[in-house]
Amino acid sequence: MNDLTRPRVIGQRTPRIDGEFKLTGRAGYTGELHAEGMLYGYPVPATIAHGKLEALELDEAQAMPGVVDIFHHGNFDTLHRSPNSMGHGDQVSEVRLPFEDETIHYHGQYVALVVAKTFEQARAAAYRVVARYRQASGAVPSLLGRDDEGLPIESEGSSRGDPEAAFSGAPVKIDRTYHIAAESHLQMEMHATLAEWHDGGRRLVVHESTQGVVYQRNAMARIFDLAQEDLEVISHYIGSGFGNKLFMWPHAVATAVAARRLQRPVKVVLPRQQDMMSGGNRPASRQHIRLGAGRDGRLTSVIHDSITETSLVDRYIDSCGSATPSFYACDNLAVSQRILPVNHGTPCPMRAPGEVSGIFALETAMDELAVELKMDPVELRLRNYAESDPESGLPWSSKQLDKCLQSAAERFGWDKRNPEVGSMRDGDEIIGYGMASCTWFAGRQPCQARVELRADGSLFVGCGTQDIGTGTYTIVAQTAAELTGMPLADIEVKLGESGLPSGPLSGGSMATASTLPAVAAAVRDALDALKEVATGNGGAFEGLSADDLEVGQGGLSHGEHRVSFAEVLKTNKLASVNGQGSTAPGAEQNAYSFRSFGAHFVEVRFDPGISRVRVARVVSSMDIGRAINPPAARNQVEGGIIMGIGMGLFEQLEYDPRDARLINSNVADYILPTHADAPEIDVELLDYPDFEFNEFGARGVGEIGLTGVAPAISNALYHATGKRHRDLPITIEALL
Ligand code: MOS
Repeated sequence: MNDLTRPRVIGQRTPRIDGEFKLTGRAGYTGELHAEGMLYGYPVPATIAHGKLEALELDEAQAMPGVVDIFHHGNFDTLHRSPNSMGHGDQVSEVRLPFEDETIHYHGQYVALVVAKTFEQARAAAYRVVARYRQASGAVPSLLGRDDEGLPIESEGSSRGDPEAAFSGAPVKIDRTYHIAAESHLQMEMHATLAEWHDGGRRLVVHESTQGVVYQRNAMARIFDLAQEDLEVISHYIGSGFGNKLFMWPHAVATAVAARRLQRPVKVVLPRQQDMMSGGNRPASRQHIRLGAGRDGRLTSVIHDSITETSLVDRYIDSCGSATPSFYACDNLAVSQRILPVNHGTPCPMRAPGEVSGIFALETAMDELAVELKMDPVELRLRNYAESDPESGLPWSSKQLDKCLQSAAERFGWDKRNPEVGSMRDGDEIIGYGMASCTWFAGRQPCQARVELRADGSLFVGCGTQDIGTGTYTIVAQTAAELTGMPLADIEVKLGESGLPSGPLSGGSMATASTLPAVAAAVRDALDALKEVATGNGGAFEGLSADDLEVGQGGLSHGEHRVSFAEVLKTNKLASVNGQGSTAPGAEQNAYSFRSFGAHFVEVRFDPGISRVRVARVVSSMDIGRAINPPAARNQVEGGIIMGIGMGLFEQLEYDPRDARLINSNVADYILPTHADAPEIDVELLDYPDFEFNEFGARGVGEIGLTGVAPAISNALYHATGKRHRDLPITIEALL
């Protein structure tokens, strides 16, 4: 029963246990929640990107129907900045508090919060707030188009051997620079907060659409100087977050202050425009890659220097080179990272942060090297295959990239590729085939969980992680079902409350590997408690020892004698038994290197007559350890592929070069892939459970699908057209 090497529920296609709630509209997302007496807030965003707020004229707005109050620098509460420490779990996305001073650092920075009886009234009044600014010169609109050196970030560097000497002596060299535009997360559900104070302002309950209820609880406790017990952050259903909901933003603080001052619940749902201006972005990057290789294709030097944007108020580091040291076997390597402050809202992690940008540059450069060598790009990657982690020197826990490359190439029909540029045609269209490898680290965080086995025949599991739409509710239920033999319908899962035992962020593709071991430990602890009851005085198996009992099908048994968990409890007149689980990464972290790998093969079709490119087909193979719920895992990779098409061909936040204002803060002008842009997608998940990482064999799957997609597209376009694209997105203009 407890043998996770041969599971019955884990690894099986399992319909989402919350699916019906979502499809019938009963799942309450933060923006839809209502509290008795609730008021609505609407932020007023700065209309300049650099300067000072000189005056706010509020009379007209104040007189608008339904307006209750307007909060701003002149009347805001004094708060404490969060120490903003990842280690202490109180990290925030923007450390500056709302309305802290009158300096404007970016377009969209809040200058006021209007609170009114209805959303429409708050919005109408917000438009009547008149802000007078003194605009400063010298706004920095973007990293792109500039050659600033920025600030070095030593902690993100890596080096081995003598890369400069090896590069200058290399028989074959690639020396190229790559640019990627800033992108918006555009998660379906906008940032939203509903704050409510209880007990005369001593206790704060916050509903937030967040990837980390515990982090937000910790940060808010510091900001409002509250004990953690006096603060609860709740996030039961989340319309996704791609890193922009990992850590709290200032709108949540402003909402909680308004609720305290007005002694009424207040809700703020950011409009899409503000979500794009002040709710996080993937920063633009400039990357310089130098590869040195022998004629046989073996890399002799890899040098990867990156610079990415941060804001004027925070130091966000999008570490582009973080996968590079582990990617290929090469004795000489240097990776460096810099950041440049620009007048944007603070950037933040966005699905496979850093690595996805770095892999675009590295995997495009590898394709350029393959062309230079006249070598098949798959063969080039196999020649430089890293059999152990070249960065740490540790063995991989499990690495099946070679199988990914072989399997995806075969299913794609890579052997039908004529390597000659522009040689494959179908009517008016030129067909291009391209590929790239991809990777994402496998991480694990400490986690706690609790379980109740109840006399009504149900099992309750609670954990302070959250389900951001990826399927965490379901895999937690699968875990409890696996270990007890109970049907999924009898298992109740509660996530998304900071008052539950501390759970991990839903981020970094770490939630699965962090959460399931703690849930399993809590289930086993509850089963041990139940066995103790069963074998003790008056118990259903009185006189036997716990070791004599088998667990299965929701009951305990000894030989032919089987008693359901519920009957065991009823026999002793108990309502429930409880179990606790607390797990953390352990000694395995020093014994192995943990990474997922994969490969994407892409077919593009280019019609030169009208400069139209379509991604027609993507065939991918992923080595993620075991997939707990395969359709949900595959869905993550498919979503990543669509995001990769956006990154490759469409998406860019455009900032006015004159004054750094964001131009396209809406989904009409910010171009996204639509259904019509979606290719045929064929994703295979290899099944090599990684038992060195955890007993479930799962490494997680959220982000890897996005890595490697954009370079596979640009490599396919080169094959079709002979034109090398080193800047993303590859717009129609760039294709002309
Ligand atoms: Mo991911 S960038 O950790 O949501």
